[in-house]
Amino acid sequence: MSRLNNRHIVLGITGGIAAYKAAELVRRLKERGAQVHVVMTAAAQEFITPLTLQALSGNPVHTSLLDSEAEAAMGHIELARWADLLLVAPASADFLAKLAQGQADDLLSTLWLACQAKKAVAPAMNQAMWADAATLANMDVLRQRGVTVLGPAAGEQACGDVGLGRMLEPTELADLAEAQFQGRALDGKRVLITAGPTREAIDPVRYISNHSSGKMGYALARAACDAGASVVLVSGPVALPCPEGVERVDVSCAQEMYDAVMQRVARTDLFIGCAAVADYRPAQAVEQKIKKNAETMQIELVRNPDIISAVAGAEKRPFTVGFAAETQDVISYARGKLERKNLDAIIANDVSDAGIGFNSDQNEVVLLAAGLEQALPRMGKQQLATTLIDRLAHCMAS
Ligand code: PMT
Repeated sequence: MSRLNNRHIVLGITGGIAAYKAAELVRRLKERGAQVHVVMTAAAQEFITPLTLQALSGNPVHTSLLDSEAEAAMGHIELARWADLLLVAPASADFLAKLAQGQADDLLSTLWLACQAKKAVAPAMNQAMWADAATLANMDVLRQRGVTVLGPAAGEQACGDVGLGRMLEPTELADLAEAQFQGRALDGKRVLITAGPTREAIDPVRYISNHSSGKMGYALARAACDAGASVVLVSGPVALPCPEGVERVDVSCAQEMYDAVMQRVARTDLFIGCAAVADYRPAQAVEQKIKKNAETMQIELVRNPDIISAVAGAEKRPFTVGFAAETQDVISYARGKLERKNLDAIIANDVSDAGIGFNSDQNEVVLLAAGLEQALPRMGKQQLATTLIDRLAHCMAS
């Protein structure tokens, strides 16, 4: 899998005949798993329409600094922060001069100044313009500021001249964009995560459930995605948005969660069971609302399938990690589950403390595996998830 998987690329397109190749470039970046937002200058729109780039990138195209509707959806500062790489391709002589001077009189040049991510340009212009002392001086300025210059290539030009100035081909540019990034801990890995509670129906209006908010599982999904993995999140009912780049499968009860997981387990490298799955369900889900005719009532419960044990016992088994939510003897109960469920690692979570565990923004856990006991102190769930994913990637590799 590509190092561009889940990377955020802002592609700036400026006015020049090579702008038509930007459409192909978007496709090459997308097929490597990158998420692409396109920003076009006014001149670029004379050569290729925003609609084409919108269809190919799957995102609205950004064209104006003063468009209040577009700014409300994703403002230029937000876009600058979102980017892992800002690539201007093609970059015209005029636009490169603008960048060298630090002008900010349109959306793309403003974004360039506001963006602290990696930056690259793919110049495209007539060979005489490229050889001009002013252009060469501008390129020196940009290189000194750490901008990566991709190309240009030599060859026949649209104007009939032959020489240096052609934009590099889209595939070459996508290769070079990929080379800007180091490998990440889970590059190429497929991760399956369960999160949230399950709901076990008593009748059409009542169910048995628990206090899981999904925050821990969703944070893990985001962290795995940031670490380069393709992530599927099988989620019980929660009120959280799906992290960008993650595929979410919504389920309600334990049996549905079991089915969704087992369908995918053969295509999984790392499974993390973070969901608080109900161990039991009512033996019968009554079809009509139960009337309160008696002072007491009894509900017979039957065992739900143990999802993580089934994953760990699968023929083509992923590296399998569980959580253990405990209120006492946390480490010894967690170790017991690690062995009984045949897991590779387990994350012991003391849920007796209301400040951590269920529905809190913070958590504090102990990572356990054969010969490993690592306490991770109290921190925000997103930060903890990033740390856990890093540690689990190490455990998988060793
Ligand atoms: O969602 P949050 O509000 O952020 O809270 C996070 C959390 C407290 C839910 C989470 O950190 C956590 O501890 N999740 C596991 C909760 C749990 O059900 O633990 P358990 O000890 O009962 O189960 C052990 C393991 O078996 C877990 O990985 C669980 O997903 C799995 N299991 C349990 C029962 C079952 N039928 N199938 C399972 O796969």
